[in-house]
This record gives sequence, C-alpha cells and structure tokens, in this order.
Amino acid sequence: MMKDNRLLFDKYKSKIFSADKAAKLIRNGDVVGVSGFTKAGDSKAVLPAFAERAGEENLQITLITGASLGYNTDGALATNHALAKRMPFQADSTLRKEINAGNILYIDQHLSETAEQLHNGDLPKINIAIVEAIGVTEEGYLIPTTSVGNSATFLAMADRIIIEINEAVPLEFNGVHDIKLQKKSPNREILEVTSCETRVGDTYIKLDPNKVEAIVYTNKPDAPARIADPDKKTISIAKHLMQFFEKEVEEGKLTKSLLPLQAGIGKIANAVLAGFLNSPFEDLKMYSEVLQDSTFQLIDAGKMNFASASSITVSEECYANFIKNFKNYKDKIVLRPQNISNSAEVIRRLGIIAINTAIEFDIYGNVNSTHLTGTRMMNGIGGSGDFARNAHLSIFVCPSISKEGRISHVVPMVSHTDHTEHDVDILVTDQGLADLRNLAPRERAQKIIDNCVHPAYKEQMQSYFDRAKLKQGHTPHILQEAFSWHTSLDEEGTMQLQTKAESLVSKKDFSFS
Ligand code: COA
Repeated sequence: MMKDNRLLFDKYKSKIFSADKAAKLIRNGDVVGVSGFTKAGDSKAVLPAFAERAGEENLQITLITGASLGYNTDGALATNHALAKRMPFQADSTLRKEINAGNILYIDQHLSETAEQLHNGDLPKINIAIVEAIGVTEEGYLIPTTSVGNSATFLAMADRIIIEINEAVPLEFNGVHDIKLQKKSPNREILEVTSCETRVGDTYIKLDPNKVEAIVYTNKPDAPARIADPDKKTISIAKHLMQFFEKEVEEGKLTKSLLPLQAGIGKIANAVLAGFLNSPFEDLKMYSEVLQDSTFQLIDAGKMNFASASSITVSEECYANFIKNFKNYKDKIVLRPQNISNSAEVIRRLGIIAINTAIEFDIYGNVNSTHLTGTRMMNGIGGSGDFARNAHLSIFVCPSISKEGRISHVVPMVSHTDHTEHDVDILVTDQGLADLRNLAPRERAQKIIDNCVHPAYKEQMQSYFDRAKLKQGHTPHILQEAFSWHTSLDEEGTMQLQTKAESLVSKKDFSFS
C-alpha cells in the first residue's frame, strides 16, 4: 500500500530492483551523478552496493554529487579504489587521505558551478544518475527528499536513471521543493527570486521516464550532522558579531531584521548562528545552502520566519523534532537546486549577509577555506565563494588559535587563497572583529592585528608587519618570511617562531583551547 502511494507511475512497477541488482547497472568508467548534499538526500543503497562491488571487480567511476555524502559512502568508495575522480565537494576523512596521497583526483568547485559546467558541456556527459526520492508522480516525475543539490541537472543530462524511493522520509515532504532548470546563455532568463519566499519552479523534477532503468526502495534516514554545543570560542565570536550588527542597526545601515542570512556548514558556523537566539534581532530570514540545527532553533524561538536552502542537514534530535512537528515548518522552508540557492544573481539582489568559516586568514584579509598549510585538502570551497563574492556583507569567522596555541589562524600570508581581500568585508575571531570596509591594505593589517590576533601571537605579527613596511610596497610583505609560520608548524609543530609555544607563553594565554 505504502509502495503504491509513493510510486504513482505504473510503467516503473516492473523495474523494482534490489540495490545489488541496480548497482550492476553502473559500468566501469561511468560518470555517475548522485543526489546528496552535506549528507542529506544521498543514495543510501545503490552507491554503497556499488562501492562493495567495485572492491571485488576492480571498477572505477567519476563521481559527481551535490556536495558531501553521509554514512561513510565516500569513505567506502575510496577504500575500495572505486573513484577515479570526485567533484565538487567532500568531507570524508578516508577520501581526504586518498585525495591528499594523490590516489584520487578531486575537483574542488564552487557549488553553483557544477550544473553550469554540465549544461555547457564543459564536464563529461553523465552516464547514469542515482537520485533519492520520496516518491514518483503519475507522470513518472521525481519528488526529492531532504536535498535538491544537482539532482535536476543529473536527471536532465543522464543517459540512464536509477531512482531510490526512501520510505523513511514522510510523504508530507511533497511541496517543500522549488525546482527550475535555467536556459543556456544567451537565452538565460531573469531568475525572479525577489525574496527568500519567492517560488519560481515546480515541486518535482521532470524527467524522461524512458531513461529510468531501476527503482530501489530504501528505508533509512539521512546520516545525522555532528553538532557541537557553542563553546567559549564560538560564544565569543557570536558576541562580537552581534555587537557589530547592533552597531549597524544603530547607524541605520540595517534594520532589526537585518538582511537574509547565509551560514557555511559545520560546527563553528552553526554555533555562531545560534548566537542570534539571544540577540535583539527579529523577523530574520535565511537564504543559504544548508539548513542546520540553528535554523530550526531560530524558527522555534520565533526569531526566524523563513529559510531557503538546498538541503536540510541536522542532528538526529533536530530531525526527529522536525518530522514530528513538520506541519509547523512546511510553509517556512523551501529547498532549491544548488545553482539557484547559490545563484550570484539572487545573492546580489537579496543583499545576503554571508557568514563562512575560514581555516586561516592573513593580515590583508585573504582567506584560506580549503587547504591545510597550503597543500592538504580539508573539505572544499563549498558555497563560500558563491556567497562571499556577491554578498551584501561578506563575513569570515574562525578561532584565533587552536591546538593549545600551536596554530594561529591569523597568519602573515595565507598558504592558499580561496577568497581574496576584495571579497572579504568582516573578519571575526574570539579576540574581536575587524571591519575592513573602507580600509586600504596597511590599515586592514593593523586593524586585524589589533582586533583578531591572539595575544600570544600579537608581538610576532606586529614585528612581521613593522619590518615588512620598511621594505615598502602597497601590500608590504617579507617574502622570505611570509610562510615561516607554516614551515615552522610543519617542522617544529608550532607556529610560534624560534622557540616552542610552551616556553614562550604561559598556559593561561591559551585558556580558550
Ligand atoms: N593550519 C594547519 N592545520 C590546521 C589548521 C591551520 N590553520 N587548522 C586546523 N588544522 C589541522 C589540525 O591540526 C587538525 O590536524 P590533525 O587531524 O592532524 O590533528 C585538522 O586540521 C583538523 O582540525 P581540528 O581543529 O581538529 O578540527 P575541526 O573539525 O575543528 O576543524 C577546521 C577545523 C578549520 C579545519 C574546520 O573548521 C574547517 O574545515 N573549516 C573550513 C570550513 C569549510 O569547509 N568551508 C568551506 C565550505 S562552506
């Protein structure tokens, strides 16, 4: 009975396969487009079954997704050498290791760009798409689950399609999505998203039913997000940010409802967003890529009244509450394809306040979001670049130090640049906030040193900047020394130069760590 409610297109009924049988439809060398965005709405059965089969049969694919996958699927694929190439984002420790060992090619891409490049023919043709659904309409069209990601593009472009119907996601989810494929330039039309709430498309994804080769039933919720409670550092970052917004309101630059918020993925951004709970701001809206626990906390607290994104990635507890009280949320959220949630045109029009996490930033405001000491990939740029370049206010946050003070997240020169100084307005650490607007490079550097650098690194940084200024230049640097903090971390295990951190500063200096 339940299956009939979810599969309304009779022609598919003869195509109900087991996951193992469906996984056999994936061929060696295929380019595979799979649903899934930060663990939400990913393939729970067919791709994991393929990972196992690939290990036994020595098969490799190119895997394109929305973003990261849940349940260690990326890890299983990496362990079984099933990936020749992976794009556009990942966050799996096993896959990361293989990428950094040079065993798997990884294209770290702005999340808005994959669909564009597929439609333009700049990426290889998608041979097979695997997309999770809550069900199929009478026309054979697909209703997505907890993410949209690149699924509409994969289904439009793939030669063959496998649909995973996930009975763990309630049918009431139908109606949450807003799906539209854009035309290619020069016939691209205006994307008329003029507020977070505006809908421009369908609640389902159209597809050619003749391409559907298998329907697989699953019953498994998304892998839960790992959420950290706000700690001293994130509480402090949030406090500086709230004070900044209050000042902007006082000066008449923003109203108490600010402008639509975007927040990057992960523990830090989620905890910082939770800072709005005890703030004077109200009637907040979100135009982001991921709805996290903090989004629903803000909705529950009556602080936020609408949120648009491409996926819902929440903890187990938050998901249970969300499903139980779904009727309270349904008209307050919308899920869109990632090239619309992250569209430059919409971000600029709505005037987004973008809050993203940095791995490190430098004294001029350049930001590294992806590479540890300039070489080792962490996760990927995700949507941070889509938002930072086009936002009304582009904000990056990170702790001032970590690892008992051995790492300073503010450095003389970033070891890899994802966001240039031109795309960065505000930097925040637990030490304070640097508003870089209307500041020239030398002014920016002093502001960042004064407000963001941890006391244990202040003297070292001031010395670098003062000596760099003697060498002159619009953006003064001492090139021989610019990466000395990173080489010291690699060689000595600390960014504290000359001597080890313990002997340079007393333990209480690192009380945040
Ligand atoms: N320089 C060098 N290494 C660093 C570093 C830095 N600035 N910051 C963290 N690391 C290393 C740590 O030493 C640790 O290494 P280890 O595994 O060998 O111990 C590793 O990175 C993980 O750091 P840790 O602090 O344990 O983990 P975390 O989960 O708190 O992550 C960040 C910290 C900075 C890596 C994380 O917040 C991050 O990835 N930020 C970028 C977010 C992002 O992906 N943005 C784009 C998408 S929206």
